Amino acid sequence: MKKILLLGGSAQQVVAIETAKRLGYYTVLCDFLTDNPGQYVADKFYLVSTTDKDAVLEVAQKEKVNGVLAYASDPAAPTAAYVGEKLKLPTNPYYAVDILCNKDRFRAFLQDNGFNAPVSMGYQTIEDAMADTSRFRLPVIVKPVDSSGSKGATVLHSWDKVNDALEFAFSFSRAHRVIVEEYIEKKHPYLIGGDIFVLNGKVVIWGLLNCHRDARVNPLVPVGKSYPLILEEADVQLVQQTLQSMMDKLEIRFGSVNVELVIDKNNRVWPIDVGPRAGGNMIPDLLGKIFGADLVEMAVQAAMGQPILTTVQKPEGCYATHNLHSTKNGIYKQIVFSDELKKYLQEVHFYKKPGDHVERFDNAAKCLGIIFMKFPDVATAENILSHIEKHIDVQLTTE
Ligand SMILES: Nc1ncnc2c1ncn2[C@@H]1O[C@H](COP(=O)(O)OP(=O)(O)O)[C@@H](O)[C@H]1O
Ligand SMILES: [Mg+2]
Repeated sequence: MKKILLLGGSAQQVVAIETAKRLGYYTVLCDFLTDNPGQYVADKFYLVSTTDKDAVLEVAQKEKVNGVLAYASDPAAPTAAYVGEKLKLPTNPYYAVDILCNKDRFRAFLQDNGFNAPVSMGYQTIEDAMADTSRFRLPVIVKPVDSSGSKGATVLHSWDKVNDALEFAFSFSRAHRVIVEEYIEKKHPYLIGGDIFVLNGKVVIWGLLNCHRDARVNPLVPVGKSYPLILEEADVQLVQQTLQSMMDKLEIRFGSVNVELVIDKNNRVWPIDVGPRAGGNMIPDLLGKIFGADLVEMAVQAAMGQPILTTVQKPEGCYATHNLHSTKNGIYKQIVFSDELKKYLQEVHFYKKPGDHVERFDNAAKCLGIIFMKFPDVATAENILSHIEKHIDVQLTTE
C-alpha cells in the first residue's frame, strides 16, 4: 500500500486525509496540536510541527512515504517541498515555494522578472521601518511577510498610526519580519481571487472569482467569493498570461495555487498575493461545483505522482460563498436567513454553537460559518450579494 504524508490535521484539512484514504493510500499525519481532528481519521499520527522541516523529514524517512502534501496550508508548504526534494518525491521546487510564502521575497521576484510590483521594503525592526517612510507614496499597506487571511495587515492614509500598524504586523509574523508597500487602487469592483490548478506546468483550472469584502468590518478580509468573474475579457486574458508566465518562471509543476490580483486604471496587472496551496474558505469546494471536478482528489493524486483521472468540465453556473461573520463581540445565539436568500442556499456550515464566544470579524480566523449559494443568473446574484447583510441576521446575546 502506498503511503502519503499529510501536513496538518485541522478541520479544513480533514477532507484531504479522507480523500487520500478513499483513493487507497495509507495516511500518515503530522500536526503539532494535540486536539487536531485529523488524527482520528489518519492511519498514523505524529505530534510533530509541520513547520519543523527536519522533524517532518525524519517522519517521512521512517515511514518511507511515497508522497507529501500540505493541503491548504501556507506555513507547511515549504516543509512539503523540502521533504519532497530531499527524498526525491513529486514536488514543486523548494526555492519557488519559499518565494511564494514570504511576501518580501515574492515582491523581489516580481520586480526581477518583469512583473508589476508595488514599491515595497521588508523590515526586521520597527525603528528601521519608521526611519524609511520617505521611500513610499501614501496610501501604503503594512503586513507581516508570512501571515495569511489578512491577519496583521493595515492600510495607512497618513503616517500618524504607522507605529501601531508596525506593532500589529510584527505580532503576527513568525519570522519577525514585516513589509511596507504602496497600495494599488483597482479599476474593477471586486478583487480578483481564487485558485488555479497546475498540471505538468500548465494551468488547467482557472478558478478566478470575485472576492467580496465587508467595509463595515475590515475591508481587507474576504467575506465571500462569487462566479462568474466580473471582468472584461481582455483583462481576463492579461491575468491568465501573467499567472501562466509566473508559474513558468517559478517552475511550478503541479497543484493548487491560491491567487489574488488587481488591475489598475492603466490596465496593468498587479499580482497581490500568490500562495502555493489551495485557498481557505472552501474555495476548492466552490470550484468543484463550477468545474465539475474534485480538486482535493487532484491535489492528492498529483502529490503521489499519479495520473489525474478527474475530468474538468467547461465552467458553468452562477455561484457564491459567504463567510458568516459578526460586526461585534458577543455570545452566539443563532443565525437566521431571509426567505429570499433561502431560495438560493445550497449548503450551510455553522462553526459555532449557542453560548460560544464570538468576535468582531477583523481576520479570517473569526469566521462563524460559510454558506454556498446558487443563482439563476448574474443579476439575481448581484442583487443579493450587494446587500447580503440584509439577508443574514447574526443574533448574539450581549456579554
Ligand atoms: N499592495 C497592495 N495594494 C492593494 N491591496 C493590497 C496590497 N497588499 C495587500 N492588499 C490587500 O490586503 C489583503 C491582504 O494582503 P495579502 O498580501 O493578501 O495578505 P494575506 O497573506 O494575509 O492574505 C489583500 O487581499 C488585498 O485586499
Ligand atoms: Mg491574501
